[in-house]
Amino acid sequence: MCGIVGAIGNLDYKSFLTGGLKKLDYRGYDSAGLAFWNNGKISLYRAVGSVENLASIVPDGHAGTAGIAHTRWATHGGVTVDNAHPQRSWDKKVYLVHNGVIDNYKELRAWLAGTGCQFRSDTDTEVIASVIAYFLQEGESPLNSIRKTMEKLDGSYALAILFTGQEGLYFAKNKSPLVIGQGDSRLNCLGSDYAPILDYCSNFAALEDRTYGYMTENSIVAYRNGKNLALRFATKDREDYVYDLAGYPHFMMKEIHEGAGVVRKNVEACFDRAKGTYLFDSKLISDLKAADEIVFLGCGSSHYSSEAAAAYFNRHGLRAASYIASEWIHGVYPHLKNPYYVLISQSGETADLISCLDLIEKGAKTLGIVNSKDSTIARRTNHVLYIGAGLEVAVASTKSFLGQMALMMLLCGAISEDASVPESLLAAASSVDDVVERSEEIDALAEGIVEVHDAFFVGRGMDFFAGEESSLKLKEISYVHSEAYPGGELKHGPIALIEEGTPVFAFAGNPDISKQIRSNVEELKARGATPYIVAAETCAKEGDAFVYRFVDRDFAPFPEVAFGQLLSYFLSLRRGLNVDKPRNLAKSVTVN
Ligand code: F6R
Repeated sequence: MCGIVGAIGNLDYKSFLTGGLKKLDYRGYDSAGLAFWNNGKISLYRAVGSVENLASIVPDGHAGTAGIAHTRWATHGGVTVDNAHPQRSWDKKVYLVHNGVIDNYKELRAWLAGTGCQFRSDTDTEVIASVIAYFLQEGESPLNSIRKTMEKLDGSYALAILFTGQEGLYFAKNKSPLVIGQGDSRLNCLGSDYAPILDYCSNFAALEDRTYGYMTENSIVAYRNGKNLALRFATKDREDYVYDLAGYPHFMMKEIHEGAGVVRKNVEACFDRAKGTYLFDSKLISDLKAADEIVFLGCGSSHYSSEAAAAYFNRHGLRAASYIASEWIHGVYPHLKNPYYVLISQSGETADLISCLDLIEKGAKTLGIVNSKDSTIARRTNHVLYIGAGLEVAVASTKSFLGQMALMMLLCGAISEDASVPESLLAAASSVDDVVERSEEIDALAEGIVEVHDAFFVGRGMDFFAGEESSLKLKEISYVHSEAYPGGELKHGPIALIEEGTPVFAFAGNPDISKQIRSNVEELKARGATPYIVAAETCAKEGDAFVYRFVDRDFAPFPEVAFGQLLSYFLSLRRGLNVDKPRNLAKSVTVN
């Protein structure tokens, strides 16, 4: 969602700030803005649309000694220049950028309006700037004004703040990520993630909630609860943040090509093939074994990967269930004496999942299965396993989905002492490579459905989860309405939607149940559907639309999802859409 970058010190600010915003743009945004501090004066530039639109209105060679910038994904107020960030206080003393949502902004706005304050935007962010300005007018220092403002704010915020007439880049953080970077000399930076400041800094610290402070070009001072705080800085592995198309036309295509490699990487990291032993921490495995239930929590694709994992755990006789994070927080679920919560997330910053952490009982065991290093979920869970997929830029997740499934299946192998899992995963990775190499065949299928309005994905058992994920991909990037159903459920209602020519993609990866899914396809065909059967070679039949290399039945979702990813990719391209940045979506969903 929104992105923040800022710095103080010796820099070409236009290029640093707009370049930094470009590195954040994969998160999704609809307007952008920046502000430079120069000799006590602040210049503000904002534009609707792309970072390029913003860059076109900012003069080159702008002198400045500090700057903040933002990409906005609208939450409060429409997509307008007035609502873009930086927002400023009514007296133009405070300029700030904000990620997060202030729950009590209406009350604060009403209070400030009563003191004569006027607002130019509909945003909660302008309210924050004006509360800070209120305390400044009361005679408080900038730092105390921020502290007092934090006492008034309910909600989430990462803030980068400039004050007219006051040197320093100020910051505050609660429930939205903010990282600080130390440059080599006469430079300090901040960002909503590492990507935009990685090339400028050598040491980094992720701020904990309720931290605030300021930086100059030579120093960084932080506080929590009114007390000075020593930030813990560490270096970062640049490989985790490679932002490069590497010759591919789109990030999504590049990332689909990387999927099989991520599966192999997880096998290598978690299993010693020479010794035939798993490499997980033994305490983690014994705690998971002792749990009365393993509770998987995730959103979107991360939920679907954990649904497949939970089914796989169940097949191994382990009690496991998968819940949508934003529902689990409202749900009434069986009281468990000794649950083990496993939180699945590519970004590690998903607000709905962080809400689960807020509710999980104190002392309960938590494991994060995460891609982004040092993200909030990685830091807040007792134990973390990284899927090592590297930076995923395309909004629709692809390689991280395969990595998540692989890692959870390896975990299941370790708990249930099943040493066959790594080999099955390696076979699945080869099958994925084969699917990807045959992209053109999938493109030809996409060509045949360019004009459709609705599509269905059906499957049974593990194949159904592949259908769910493929259906989500299709919706996200091709904007075709799509439903995923277990084959047997169609006749209980959804079959009413089948019309002449409705495309139905049926996954058949399990020889034991492929007969049933084929008879479901016959029922649909009889009502006019155009079926496309995607089958493992062991259950393939003449006329199937796509046949993939055999994998163990439980691992069929790997090639099937790769098929679904490519189908969605090509359909999106053929419909002339923005594959990497679909409308209304954000890569890192940091609001509830
Ligand atoms: C779909 C997609 C989303 C995410 C969901 C959770 O392609 O990317 O559905 O899976 O927003 O995000 P993470 O995994 O970052 O918690």
